[in-house]
Amino acid sequence: MSEEYVLQMQDIVKRFPGVVAVKNGQLTLKPGEVHCLVGENGAGKSTLMKILSGAQPMDSGAILLSGKPVTIHSPHHAQQLGISMIYQEFNLSPYLSVAENIYLGREPRLGKSPFINWSKMYNDARDILKRIRVNLDVRKPVNECSVAQQQMVEIAKALSFNSRIIVMDEPSATLTDHELDALFELIAELKRQGIGMIYISHRLEEIFAIGDRVTVMRDGEYIDTKPVSDVNREDIIRMMVGRALTHEFPKEHFDLGEERLRVEELTRKGAFQDVSFSLHRGEIVGLTGLVGAGRTEVARAIFGADRIDGGQIVLDGKPVTVRSPQDAIRQGIGLLTEDRKNQGLILGMTIRENTTLANLRSLVRILFVDRSRERKIASEFVRELQIKTPGIEQTAQNLSGGNQQKVVLAKWLFTESKVLIFDEPTRGIDVGAKVEIYRLMNDLVRKGVCILMISSELPEVLGMCDRILVMHEGHLAGSLDRKDATQERIMKLATGDTLASIV
Ligand SMILES: Nc1ncnc2c1ncn2[C@@H]1O[C@H](COP(=O)(O)OP(=O)(O)OP(=O)(O)O)[C@@H](O)[C@H]1O
Ligand SMILES: [Mg+2]
Repeated sequence: MSEEYVLQMQDIVKRFPGVVAVKNGQLTLKPGEVHCLVGENGAGKSTLMKILSGAQPMDSGAILLSGKPVTIHSPHHAQQLGISMIYQEFNLSPYLSVAENIYLGREPRLGKSPFINWSKMYNDARDILKRIRVNLDVRKPVNECSVAQQQMVEIAKALSFNSRIIVMDEPSATLTDHELDALFELIAELKRQGIGMIYISHRLEEIFAIGDRVTVMRDGEYIDTKPVSDVNREDIIRMMVGRALTHEFPKEHFDLGEERLRVEELTRKGAFQDVSFSLHRGEIVGLTGLVGAGRTEVARAIFGADRIDGGQIVLDGKPVTVRSPQDAIRQGIGLLTEDRKNQGLILGMTIRENTTLANLRSLVRILFVDRSRERKIASEFVRELQIKTPGIEQTAQNLSGGNQQKVVLAKWLFTESKVLIFDEPTRGIDVGAKVEIYRLMNDLVRKGVCILMISSELPEVLGMCDRILVMHEGHLAGSLDRKDATQERIMKLATGDTLASIV
């Protein structure tokens, strides 16, 4: 019976100082199966997969490949055993070509010479890409490829090792809808070739799109494994969170106050043109559109991270010049970036240090930072946002992906900003914690902060925003009031229809 499985992970235990990351990990995988692995932030999903891919040793438990027990010593060893992991931060070399990346360190040689057999390498790379029906120039440098294409290169690389098992840890988080379709097609092709895949995601709808079975983990514990056809979204949420979630979007309504931020004909050449809108006290405004429509660029310009070529920014009725992000923070504008690893968080610092980083001045008494207040504030955020950690002195890089995102959020919540711009604030955040973040947004709005939320998740935009601005190719295509907004109308504006033609 065990031959049915390419992989069995049994009773896996993994401890870190102060945390049991995995208490009793269980997972089986059949050839040609997509097995979804879900659970709240910090549930132990990535850790279990790092053990499988040889990146972390386990404390106890067993791993069987096609029924035979194995000990996996390193990522290299895992690869030899036919296990590949596609990480969210790719391990590609940006300046090398697609083909060089696939064969990095294993380049075919000309006979016994030290010289690379380029034509063989290009041909082999082309064959692999053909096998997965990906149309990509194998000579193209990887830094000229889109995120989705880089992901495909990673998958091609996995196949070049003859992998039987491919692990994808939140592969969809950085993809556009269109790219996601391409990934799903690729997954279907890999299934046909008998490759087993473990697929981690916080977007539960994806389970129903591609999954065969789903395993839920909570707090390092194995909860259950079910065929996807036997469960619905509510069942999965209940298993993940331990209870039913009654309100996924706890929207509160406040009276509209005076205008806080207005941008007039904001322009940055090559990014966006003539963008005008205003934000008032008491409201959450959504900024949506297809990836690449210019949403993040607008946010960066308001935050002083990019220069503007025209237009102006008016804060509390006064025109202001925002010279730099430091300047923006001083004037009361905050930006939570979508790229948390590079811009939001200092991974080597603790939760406490990261939380107070953007507003350390408020803690300075005479010349010294008030450390006990700092500790108290960081602890409060850890509690409110349910950041899963043994304590506030934990360094950020040891937190799970979603918990890192919560620390970035805490940092901005602590700045006492007037205007907060949230760029994809709930990406990688589990369903339960999302609700906590929405509640905190309500609290901020109640205190007079206004929020601009950039998001590609239309249910979240529709669920939490009072007004929705839609961008299309660098222009503001239109603005919809909450009561008029539908998924369909937003998509029409985002793809080039005019407001007049749809309402
Ligand atoms: N290197 C490490 N040192 C200390 N603790 C760690 C380390 N790696 C992970 N942890 C802890 O182990 C727990 C499980 O983390 P893991 O990254 O596996 O969660 P996850 O399920 O992938 O969550 P997410 O959905 O947020 O990505 C967390 O509490 C995390 O802080
Ligand atoms: Mg993870």
